[in-house]
Amino acid sequence: MKLEVKWHKLFETMEEAIQTVPTNTLYSLRIEMKKICISNTKRGLAAMEDACPHKLIPLSKGFVNEFDEIVCVWHKYCFDTQTGYELTGKNIRPVRVYPIEEREDGVYVGIPSKAPKVDEFSY
Ligand code: FES
Repeated sequence: MKLEVKWHKLFETMEEAIQTVPTNTLYSLRIEMKKICISNTKRGLAAMEDACPHKLIPLSKGFVNEFDEIVCVWHKYCFDTQTGYELTGKNIRPVRVYPIEEREDGVYVGIPSKAPKVDEFSY
């Protein structure tokens, strides 16, 4: 089953995006009842659900480490901004990630109409 993706404009320009989310920072916003964490690292802008899959702490309260990973502020689990996978070997499901596109008229994030299925891991 193919998920329908709805695109939402985040910023009018990439310059506005970078001003709002400077390099190595995190930014939280809400789109249609979903909390989204926008990150800006050397790998570019990325979007993921703003909830650590461990205890649902907002990932936007964390920080970007030297490997361009998002580190949860509470137990320091590290997440890949592109895949959502935890990178220190914890047995936990990945964070949901959302595509970002720069278009002529702005910077958009694509949110599936239903939550994408992610691999389930035991805790
Ligand atoms: S709540 Fe994020 S690592 Fe535990």
